[in-house]
Amino acid sequence: MRVTDTSDRWWRTAFIYNLNVKSFMDWDDDGVGDLEGLSHRIDYLAALGVTCLWLAPFYTSPNKDNGYDVSDFYGIDDRYGHHGDFVEVVRTAHDRGMRVIVDLVVNHTSDQHPWFRSARSSPDSPHRDFYVWRDEIPADAPANVFPDAEDGVWFWDEKAGAYYEHNFYRHQPDLNFANPEVREEIAKVVGFWLEVGVDGFRVDAVPYLIEPGAADEHEYLRLLRGYISRRKGEAMMLGEVNVPRDEQLSFFGGSDADELSMQFDFIGNQRMYLALARQDPAPLVDAIESRPAITTGSQWANFARNHDELTLDQLSDDERDEVFAAFAPEESQRIHGRGITRRLPPMLDGDPRRIRMVYSLIFTLPGAPVLYYGEEIGMGDNADIPGRSAVRTPMQWSDAENGGSSRAARRRLVAEPPSGAYGPEHVNASAQVKDPDSLFSYVRELAALYRRSPEIGWGDYERLETGDAAVLAHRMSGSTGQTVALHNFAPGPTVAELTLPGADEDWRLVDARSGTTHAVDAKGRVSIRMDGYGAEWFRLIGPDSRRL
Ligand code: NOJ
Repeated sequence: MRVTDTSDRWWRTAFIYNLNVKSFMDWDDDGVGDLEGLSHRIDYLAALGVTCLWLAPFYTSPNKDNGYDVSDFYGIDDRYGHHGDFVEVVRTAHDRGMRVIVDLVVNHTSDQHPWFRSARSSPDSPHRDFYVWRDEIPADAPANVFPDAEDGVWFWDEKAGAYYEHNFYRHQPDLNFANPEVREEIAKVVGFWLEVGVDGFRVDAVPYLIEPGAADEHEYLRLLRGYISRRKGEAMMLGEVNVPRDEQLSFFGGSDADELSMQFDFIGNQRMYLALARQDPAPLVDAIESRPAITTGSQWANFARNHDELTLDQLSDDERDEVFAAFAPEESQRIHGRGITRRLPPMLDGDPRRIRMVYSLIFTLPGAPVLYYGEEIGMGDNADIPGRSAVRTPMQWSDAENGGSSRAARRRLVAEPPSGAYGPEHVNASAQVKDPDSLFSYVRELAALYRRSPEIGWGDYERLETGDAAVLAHRMSGSTGQTVALHNFAPGPTVAELTLPGADEDWRLVDARSGTTHAVDAKGRVSIRMDGYGAEWFRLIGPDSRRL
């Protein structure tokens, strides 16, 4: 038996795919994607090699923040369908061997949630303490997460006659997690969706769920994980935690690994863009090597883009300016003074070599890969849509009207697809699925290689010497074997003079895609020719290996 085949930690080697139901596939022709449409597209995701679907909020909501403003944690936005449709999605995904996780957005509710309506109506409301109220704005109030939309985190509520806390938009009052009744209610919500069949949660805004200054700051996160694990042993929590390196380990629960199962590597993400801008992998290497050591009970999630801005908040001002200059030269492509509103391909001027190199990194760096819908076909953003919504356009299925995402009139769509080079007539899934040279086929191959190489999710990372500062070479080793990956951050071809500690002339390096074998010399050296912005994967095979 292989020790790494512990299925209760399936997420260590998951390929996670995030989508928003409303932007994916509309089956009832009202212009809004729905759960039935998604069910019909699960086979597409299975063919890509996705092993875990992450559904962005689909709950009942006034939709002032893309569904992250929930007015009923048990409800489903009726434009998307009903619980029967949801169960069909889960069942179909499970049938294809795919898990399903859903967004858990419990730092705040919508101001339309019945709890908040009740809370603001009277100081005697049974829900008053579900939220955080003050008579005066505290002197030490932090800045709002959306500084260009909100002045601060306290908003005066006429009805309540008090200020309430909102770390995000003012229509998103923060829940009071110090209140045991709130904890109980959220436990019921979590228990409900687990019983409906989900396999875990992407937990929104995690740093706001802890209680800085409390005797046990992380108590709630630990309780939540404990509860979820008791209800469903294999269920996971993937947390949105954009904090400095020295704070990250505590969100995993340290070596006890009893809080989040996974965290997005926001620092690795930001430093990857700096590395791309400089055509030098050093910032990314530093980021990977500065990760706190985690146990097998925790995992990093690697990603290139998500549904928000590409935040660069953990870079220095000079570093951020470098990335802005390279990838968002126009002010209109930036947001909140800290992020970029574009998708990856337009940032890289559509250079297919560079785009592929980025996805190869996402699938080979230690951790588990996460893709945002449309990345597998190289979708662009719609630059005419301001802010974060530029990257939330409908999935481009074909060159048909509305990119095949809906048969409704264009004006009824949730958002207009981009026009020009990134329009559906040039970028669509239907054409790419059939084309062995497409980005879709490339990503599908990466997913298959990742699946065959569990050491990327489980093993040890080691940087290798190449003699060329522009080439990042690393090895992932574990009981399942050794994967070696090379990435050339520079536009020109090169020859990487690789040194493989521990290997000698009895070993060979086998190209994971073509099967070409490279001999290793007695000192573990081998030369690999690389294209500009090239990416190569190898298996390192020793004399005792029985791997295929
Ligand atoms: C983080 C989500 O990713 C973002 O889209 C949302 O606006 C905020 N949390 C508030 O829920």
